[in-house]
Amino acid sequence: MASSSKGKGKAKETDTNGNSAAQGYELPWVEKYRPKLLEDVVGNSDTIERLKIIAKDGNCPHIIISGLPGIGKTTSIHCLAHQLLGDAYKEGVLELNASDDRGIDVVRNKIKSFAQKKVTLPPGRHKIVILDEADSMTPGAQQALRRTMEIYSNTTRFALACNMPNKIIEPIQSRCAILRYAKLKDAEILKRLLEICEAENVKYNDEGLSALIFTSEGDMRQAINNLQSTHSGFGFVSADNVFKGDIDGAMEKLNELWNQGYSAVDIVVTIFRVVKTYDQIPEYTKLEYIKEIGFTHMRILEGVGTLIQLGGLMARLCKLNLKPELFKI
Ligand SMILES: Nc1ncnc2c1ncn2[C@@H]1O[C@H](COP(=O)(O)OP(=O)(O)O)[C@@H](O)[C@H]1O
Ligand SMILES: [Mg+2]
Repeated sequence: MASSSKGKGKAKETDTNGNSAAQGYELPWVEKYRPKLLEDVVGNSDTIERLKIIAKDGNCPHIIISGLPGIGKTTSIHCLAHQLLGDAYKEGVLELNASDDRGIDVVRNKIKSFAQKKVTLPPGRHKIVILDEADSMTPGAQQALRRTMEIYSNTTRFALACNMPNKIIEPIQSRCAILRYAKLKDAEILKRLLEICEAENVKYNDEGLSALIFTSEGDMRQAINNLQSTHSGFGFVSADNVFKGDIDGAMEKLNELWNQGYSAVDIVVTIFRVVKTYDQIPEYTKLEYIKEIGFTHMRILEGVGTLIQLGGLMARLCKLNLKPELFKI
């Protein structure tokens, strides 16, 4: 999830021409291969068909797209908005992400001034407010949103994405068309992985691709991220390389430090410093690592500074690259 919102800044600006501008900075493939058109979003074909019709007719209701992470919710909303507004996209769309402040006042003021703004749009089209990960908004902010939706619905449409639709207050749900995305099928993920392998000249065997699909559990973002990290780490996508990870080695080192008497805080802070400055891992993996390290740091500061906590951290870091069933008890 983090990579969708975090990947935005630099990556977004460069991916319109499919290339990374900054030298030496490899654009994460999830961004580079983010579909631009609804036609290119794989899976959930019935629902995507509905969106294509909306994009063509321009008769856009308020919508909620719900479903598990990494299956194309945010992407679909952007495609829809682009297809509806064309060149007016920039002026005609207000996007508020989970990382933005979306408290009650922001909802009232930002959306209000956007909704009142005069923008020239293609005939019959509306301005669009995109609220990504809307289920993370507080009920209070959602109530404010609901009233704002009512007041400005003649000029502005709202598109919400969320993992859990039941966390959206009922009065908003009842104003929206709710589209539920199912997790992606193996064949759908495979199709996209093959396209990327072709475009990036990735060397692979069938077992390697199966392993990527298996570990992704229907999450395309994860499949593509793992493809990129296996490719950049090993130069060949085989099952072994996909599943590789070294939890035993990590635990051994951890025990050593522990036995030498280092405290849990010392260890976790050092892990953080090393990860932060280590440039052999892709940016998105680094972000995931830092997130896990941060959670563990917090638990340790809350008083749970045990070897087990640190072992759990090691396991979660490895798990980002390793076979999940090894961790099922
Ligand atoms: N259905 C899909 N078709 C093609 N690519 C996809 C699809 N779903 C996810 N992806 C890839 O994963 C990335 C994240 O997708 P996103 O739409 O942000 O997922 P989410 O459902 O979590 O909002 C995209 O940039 C794209 O590379
Ligand atoms: Mg998303």
